[in-house]
Amino acid sequence: MNVEISIASETRSDTAAVGHLVFEGLVPVTSGIEVDPVLCEMRSFAGKPGEYVLETGQGQLRALVGAGEMDSFGTKALRRAAATFARAVSSCKSACLDLTGLPENGPSVAPAIQAVVEGIGGSTYQFGRYRSSEKPRALGSVALVVKEADTVAAAEGLARGLAIARAVDVARDLVNTPAADMTPSRLAEVASEVAQEAGLSITVLDEEQARAERLGGLLGVARGSAEPPRLIKLSYEPAQSQGAAVPTVALVGKGITFDSGGLSLKSGEGMMAMKDDMSGAAVVIAVLGACKAAGVNVRVVGIAPCTENMPSGTATKPGDVLTTRNGKTIEVLNTDAEGRLVLADGLALAVEEAPDAIVDLATLTGACVVALGAEVAGVMGNDSRLIGAVESAAERAGEPVWHLPLPQSYKKLHESNIADMKNIGRPGGPGALLAGLILEEFVGDRPWAHLDIAGPANTDEDAFDQRKGATGFGVRTVLELLSSYEAIGAPADHAADGSVR
Ligand code: BES
Ligand code: MN
Ligand code: ZN
Repeated sequence: MNVEISIASETRSDTAAVGHLVFEGLVPVTSGIEVDPVLCEMRSFAGKPGEYVLETGQGQLRALVGAGEMDSFGTKALRRAAATFARAVSSCKSACLDLTGLPENGPSVAPAIQAVVEGIGGSTYQFGRYRSSEKPRALGSVALVVKEADTVAAAEGLARGLAIARAVDVARDLVNTPAADMTPSRLAEVASEVAQEAGLSITVLDEEQARAERLGGLLGVARGSAEPPRLIKLSYEPAQSQGAAVPTVALVGKGITFDSGGLSLKSGEGMMAMKDDMSGAAVVIAVLGACKAAGVNVRVVGIAPCTENMPSGTATKPGDVLTTRNGKTIEVLNTDAEGRLVLADGLALAVEEAPDAIVDLATLTGACVVALGAEVAGVMGNDSRLIGAVESAAERAGEPVWHLPLPQSYKKLHESNIADMKNIGRPGGPGALLAGLILEEFVGDRPWAHLDIAGPANTDEDAFDQRKGATGFGVRTVLELLSSYEAIGAPADHAADGSVR
């Protein structure tokens, strides 16, 4: 993150701009702040999310920023308003944002400040590595002004917000980097750097070691590529874990650094964004890197099977059968349904850690994008309590997810003539659910939730805290889940239909 954010207890006169939040209906969030209704009317500012109006005052620019409806004011509105504020004052070197009047019935100080920091961090993100010249952004520092009595809680929210915003940046950088540079081996190098910085332990398996470990799904997808695959495993141990019974959560991320479709080649258009197909792995690496700074109190194991999916004379052919880590065999009838093949091994490895919960993230199916669009991730799984925890973490994190079912009767759709299963169903079938049902074959008896992030992993518009390109979707939800995991305890054994197993 390249904007410095601090906490202050007074609006400073030496900053170039000062921002105030205004509810719809032109009611200032901090009472006593003057809002000129004529000016607002002229600039068609009504206080809606995303709106702002600038006024020149006594040597200082004044930004009124829409906070949306008073009744629905919460962390989401704050994140959006802070993002809008950062954009409004982007040409100023320094600015302060007046948060002294946060309503009593709204979010408490720490989560409020956390959301503000996420919003500023998200909206000021730049990925300039591949431009020959980039205008440096003027905005260098922002002071968040809170009541004197709130400064301690605000500092807490600032620290947490920075940890999360930095993790989102890590994921976005990884995903935005072109496939030529973000190869499986490079991804493993970055993971090692992250591990070093964050004090994680890391194991990276190369192709030969993957063969020794019988990772037939990963190797089958990697066969057509000149770039060798990698299996990345990161582990985070919380500070207070000595001797205590600490739950373990395993995260598994799809790491296809480029998905051409393999011999079942995609169209030119279909593969334009396929450098993003390692978004799940990027989230896993970024989250592990932030566990310590975010104060996560559970053990976390992150697993990312990483490879390209390319066509060539050595590539897996439709009709080939792969034997995965847990011994189950998959007939590959379409080499473009490769995510489930590498995740089969990743999930089987996760099960071997005997975790209390497994969460996987994957840009898995176009069908999920058809069902839920570009903004909403699908969540599926075998444990209603874990799914509920993911849903509420996502709600708090401001990342929309929607629970999709895994009807056991649909398992017949992946029956193979010659192997334990095939990797696709029939055209026009329930593609997102079928992919989920295939993954379910590899999670054993563990509580498991699957996030299909094919839609929200990237965006083609600049909106609020999002910039065109990778979004880092999932980082905030998973960090929120891990931070609250202890509170919910290890999920009990509930089946997807709510019955206890
Ligand atoms: N990586 C794609 C899924 C995807 C599609 C992500 C669009 C983001 C945007 C995945 O590997 C894939 O190709 N899935 C196929 C599966 C099909 C062949 C059963 C799909 O969704 O078309
Ligand atoms: Mn594919
Ligand atoms: Zn893919």
